[in-house]
Amino acid sequence: MTWLMWIFLASIVMFLLYLVNIYYVSAARCPSSDRMDGKTVVITGSNTGIGKYAAIELARRGAHVILACRDRKRTEEALRDIRRLSGSEKVEMEMLDLASLQSVRECAKRLRDRLTKLDVLINNAGVMMASGKSVDGYEIHFAVNHLGHFLLTNLLLDLMKKAPAARIINVSSINHAFWGLQINWDDINFSKPYWRMNAYSHSKLANVLFTNELARRLKDTNITANSLHPGVVRTEVTRSILGNYQSILDGIILLITPIWYCLTKTPEQGAQTSIYLATDRQLDHVTGKYFSECKECPSSKTSQDRQSAERLWKLSEEMTNLRDALKEIRNN
Ligand SMILES: NC(=O)c1ccc[n+]([C@@H]2O[C@H](COP(=O)([O-])OP(=O)(O)OC[C@H]3O[C@@H](n4cnc5c(N)ncnc54)[C@H](OP(=O)(O)O)[C@@H]3O)[C@@H](O)[C@H]2O)c1
Ligand SMILES: *[C@@H]1O[C@H](CO)[C@@H](O)[C@H](O)[C@H]1NC(C)=O
Ligand SMILES: *[C@@H]1O[C@H](CO)[C@@H](O)[C@H](O)[C@H]1NC(C)=O
Ligand SMILES: *[C@@H]1O[C@H](CO)[C@@H](O)[C@H](O)[C@H]1NC(C)=O
Repeated sequence: MTWLMWIFLASIVMFLLYLVNIYYVSAARCPSSDRMDGKTVVITGSNTGIGKYAAIELARRGAHVILACRDRKRTEEALRDIRRLSGSEKVEMEMLDLASLQSVRECAKRLRDRLTKLDVLINNAGVMMASGKSVDGYEIHFAVNHLGHFLLTNLLLDLMKKAPAARIINVSSINHAFWGLQINWDDINFSKPYWRMNAYSHSKLANVLFTNELARRLKDTNITANSLHPGVVRTEVTRSILGNYQSILDGIILLITPIWYCLTKTPEQGAQTSIYLATDRQLDHVTGKYFSECKECPSSKTSQDRQSAERLWKLSEEMTNLRDALKEIRNN
């Protein structure tokens, strides 16, 4: 074939990808325009990516938004951006490092001191393909994506009970449904060699299991708990892959990244389902469900298993020392 043929073929492929992008990838937008005046929202990991765009939109709709993030400099910059883009001054920040249970306790304490109620908690922060351990010695994905949020959520429940109708929203991922994926019961600290993508999916399965268990535990309150898959979104979530190869599989992921550029959402598009779950009045009593593309959909079978959910809750209680943390925060 001549080079002209190649160019022709490439154009056709690009055009098809473009159509897929328009009609499929960037599809769903939050259908509600409900306002959030008078409501207080905490979003973890909101200095970039999906969380940042959720923060902009919720602030625009009148919510008092608190960015709970770990890096002061990055967060101060994001705070300025979010205020400017939303036209609202009711945006503040609070330092939170989910890889440290001590930092989670301190952040929860400060939030409890400064707020009289909390209407929406979006557990959005997350790491993917990271390596290493948390401050407390746990596998990093499980620690940040699951245990840190587990503790934070539990320490903020008292505040959420003071709101007329509160919502907890967990940003999970379609990866929670990886074929055959189960909680790594026998080796929760991942002491044997593992693929980082697997550890990520593991933590995202934990997110859905927890949402479901939490929904059951909160059924007599006015707090709902739902989880979601944001879509495949172009954010900084892949940053850990660069310059940090572990296996050939990582390399393949990096290689196909440019092609997938067309097949991924912008952060603003990726934030739509989070925004929908935070704002839509029709969801006031919907709880224990999983959403994607602003629609409810079934989560994996494992993630609906009640025994696993209870077992994970107990394990997380021990790993985060929840009982003592609750005692300490209530006595202060
Ligand atoms: N992007 C996707 O395609 C996709 C798909 C499915 C699910 N998700 C989920 O969507 C959520 C948001 O991801 P994103 O794509 O917006 O990623 P991102 O751009 O990398 O943003 C992640 C956020 O989490 C924060 N974070 C990381 N570790 C933290 C820690 N130890 N303590 C506190 N905050 C921490 C980051 O803070 P720094 O800026 O300080 O690092 C950042 O604000 C994640 O839960 C992710 O798993 C994403
Ligand atoms: C996991 O690691 C933590 C911190 O190092 C340790 O306290 C705990 O006992 C370990 N758990 C298991 C099941 O090995
Ligand atoms: C969100 O996920 C975290 C971590 O898995 C869990 O501790 C928390 O209870 C969940 N919250 C909801 C509403 O599901
Ligand atoms: C939940 O809200 C309803 C209606 O606003 C209220 O009547 C009820 O007392 C609330 N229940 C709890 C447990 O707060």
